Amino acid sequence: MLESCRLIFKGKRFVRLFIFIVVCLGFLIAVTILAGLTIFDRQHNHILHDYVARNDDIVVLSTTYYENSKSFPPSTAVILFNSVQVFHLKYSTLNVVAETMQGNVEVQFKIQPVINKIPFFCKWVPYLAVGQVPEDHVLLKLSTNKKDGMELSLRSPFQTPRKVVACFSPLFLNERWQLLLATVEIYSHYGAFMHFYVRSMITDLFKLIKENKNTRISPWPSIRIGESRAAPPMFDPNTELEFRNQASAMTDCLLQYKESAEFIVFPDPDDILVPVLGKNYHEEFTQAFNMFPTAGAIVYNMTQTSIESSTTPALYSPISLLASIKFKGEQRWGKLVVRPERVDSIWIHRSYSIKEGYEQKVMPVDVNAFYHLRIWKFPDYPTVNRSKISNPPYFDPYHLNATKRTVYNVSDGLKIQRKFKNRVSEGNMKAIYARLPKVSLYYPLIEVCYNRIFYSMKDIGTCRGPEYCNIPAFPGLRCTNVASEFVTYKSYRNIYIHQLISTDFEEGENGCTL
Ligand SMILES: *[C@@H]1O[C@H](CO)[C@@H](O)[C@H](O)[C@H]1NC(C)=O
Ligand SMILES: *[C@@H]1O[C@H](CO)[C@@H](O)[C@H](O)[C@H]1NC(C)=O
Ligand SMILES: *[C@@H]1O[C@H](CO)[C@@H](O)[C@H](O)[C@H]1NC(C)=O
Ligand SMILES: *[C@@H]1O[C@H](CO)[C@@H](O)[C@H](O)[C@H]1NC(C)=O
Repeated sequence: MLESCRLIFKGKRFVRLFIFIVVCLGFLIAVTILAGLTIFDRQHNHILHDYVARNDDIVVLSTTYYENSKSFPPSTAVILFNSVQVFHLKYSTLNVVAETMQGNVEVQFKIQPVINKIPFFCKWVPYLAVGQVPEDHVLLKLSTNKKDGMELSLRSPFQTPRKVVACFSPLFLNERWQLLLATVEIYSHYGAFMHFYVRSMITDLFKLIKENKNTRISPWPSIRIGESRAAPPMFDPNTELEFRNQASAMTDCLLQYKESAEFIVFPDPDDILVPVLGKNYHEEFTQAFNMFPTAGAIVYNMTQTSIESSTTPALYSPISLLASIKFKGEQRWGKLVVRPERVDSIWIHRSYSIKEGYEQKVMPVDVNAFYHLRIWKFPDYPTVNRSKISNPPYFDPYHLNATKRTVYNVSDGLKIQRKFKNRVSEGNMKAIYARLPKVSLYYPLIEVCYNRIFYSMKDIGTCRGPEYCNIPAFPGLRCTNVASEFVTYKSYRNIYIHQLISTDFEEGENGCTL
């Protein structure tokens, strides 16, 4: 390069200087573009490609209609959909036609990204489109022509008041009953109503969870785009969605409980929170938002722990998990609790759409933190007895012996234990509980696969999930899976619209699917 620049310098002075500058500039620009492209390429974010593409696919997951709302003007509809991560840079609105008795009214629905970060590891992300429609509409459709459109299937948000709702991120190939039963019992004891999104779960565990009056379980489908599509024929958008589309599930949950819940918390099932600012979650979160009056969302950090459990139902106890807890002295960035009228969408570690005037705050770890039940041990002879439950360890997130409070209050611990024992000895629950599996089939497979895809795939920044794991069928294994239906509409200008129109659980005998 320097050589060539020097050679050019031998010609006439000004021409030489001019050519020199042009060549060097050109070289600089080329290098920048190439470097940029390489980075984009390495991250498998074909952002430029998606940005210049003439046509796009969107997948509509839900449309919630709020007649009156604490968050939105009256008669507002909110569409939750997935598309490529540059979609909102190409389109600022979706065109909705409201059919009314007096004729059709066009409304521009404003698009907002749920994850406002580019480049994001995964090419596909969730969005909201929000618009106020005429009160007397008969139907709403996405349309850019006068003839037809994709009719939106509307739902209302839940109305039954709930003080605290826990929205858990989607569960798949789920068989770790020791974890889920403890989560349900503990969250239930401290006053949370739990909403689970399930892709697949062994049937006996599914039945045990479903019986609890404080839980609701929704099927969480993988998404599908039809044959008429903008994407290449073999492309599967699920491979480009973060962790089974979890940000969409969390936002879906927020939208459903926006009007009914006072607080909503968004944990994974292995994140256990024990209230310390009050007797239950409602008192805890009321105090927390008093500490941070301007908060829309509060992050509770996670403290890493190891616990002991049992492979045998007869020797298992949800509270002795917590009695065996050992703190690792490490913290991780945490999970959120929100006032639902102050945020419109949510992602696992933060909310990008906190309403104006509010912000995200962090709860100091020494006040309270989630116990992240990270490392599991299954000793041959676990000791579950009253004396162990009555002697819980101290909360010690930093290994400093700094607090003298126990990880749970003993009287709560004994109540949790008693309620659990009653639950699993009642009627047909007893037989189901007794036959829960001693051996994990999926857990080791997923572990091996994750080690492979997380440590051997060289590209940092690619979107990785269980879709890459080739999970085999297990004939004879009873599993509850999800069956769903999508329809495609191809006459919207430049956008293929795929909408989820039905989804339900299906019991099978051939193992769990993704
Ligand atoms: C929460 O955890 C993150 C990541 O470990 C850390 O940077 C942050 O300081 C913690 N926040 C508090 C309040 O402890
Ligand atoms: C109860 O558990 C404790 C601690 O794990 C153990 O030391 C004790 O021997 C157990 N007691 C009985 C009666 O099994
Ligand atoms: C904390 O307490 C335990 C037992 O009481 C003791 O073994 C340990 O050395 C203490 N750690 C610190 C950092 O003081
Ligand atoms: C445990 O909870 C009970 C009932 O809420 C309360 O009376 C008691 O003071 C608590 N004990 C401790 C050590 O916090």
